[in-house]
Amino acid sequence: MDNPSNFLKFAIKVAKEAGDIQMSYFGNISSLKTKSTNIDLLTKADLKSEEHIINQIQNEFPKHSILSEEKGNLLTDNEYLWIIDPLDGTTNFAHNLPIFSVSIGLVKKGTKTICGVVYNPAANKCFYAEKNKGAFLNGKNINHTSSNTLTDSLIVTGFPYLHDLRYDVSFEIFKDFYDRTRGVRRLGAASLDLCFVAMGRFDGYYEYELKPWDICAGSLIASESGCKLSDWNGKSLPHDGSRILCTNGKIHNQMIEILTKNKYKLFF
Ligand code: IPD
Ligand code: CA
Ligand code: CA
Repeated sequence: MDNPSNFLKFAIKVAKEAGDIQMSYFGNISSLKTKSTNIDLLTKADLKSEEHIINQIQNEFPKHSILSEEKGNLLTDNEYLWIIDPLDGTTNFAHNLPIFSVSIGLVKKGTKTICGVVYNPAANKCFYAEKNKGAFLNGKNINHTSSNTLTDSLIVTGFPYLHDLRYDVSFEIFKDFYDRTRGVRRLGAASLDLCFVAMGRFDGYYEYELKPWDICAGSLIASESGCKLSDWNGKSLPHDGSRILCTNGKIHNQMIEILTKNKYKLFF
């Protein structure tokens, strides 16, 4: 069982089961709680999806570590760490917007992410990748776009629940990109933003103040589809989610040029 393809097969199965759990609550939410701020929502679907994923991992791989958004760290000294967002896009979910996912990534100590799945059950879209084996959507290979310039590009971003000084300035960045591209979208599920760059719907994606579970699986899927991923200044991607830039490669430096303007230095 101890090989990446088996891990991936397992993760796809569990993500689909968790997606079914999400769908059983979709459009039918009875109670809403809040977390870090009054716009950071928590539904029963987040918790039930998480419970199922954790139970399945603990049954199959009792020695593995788990980092999951709602439960936090369930650490062992094992070399394998599952990083889970049981429901990415909770605000959309709570408002009956079908843009949300289950995100499951597996990291092996010393080798970064070895496999990842992002499942969007409302659209029956299952994105997945294994390190060095390409990226797939429902069994078919996916690829990024080939736009060479920002002028020909459609990009996507997101905003954190925390509305601090950086949040105010982030709207200047948004405007900067809006002025230079065909448009900027805000869909509300970071894992799917990454997959949509991977499959060529968007040419680039940037965001800040994310968490490891938002980007773990999606960033492997994007990189396996040939996308370039980095910090906003081009340095290696911070896996804690503090800043992320993901593009088709061709517009990467043009996006870095904007993101590293002196007036945005408070993001570093
Ligand atoms: C959120 C989404 C959103 C991003 C937020 C995340 P959640 O995750 O990925 O797109 O902009 O910063 O926290 O709370 O729905 O799991
Ligand atoms: Ca999330
Ligand atoms: Ca979540």
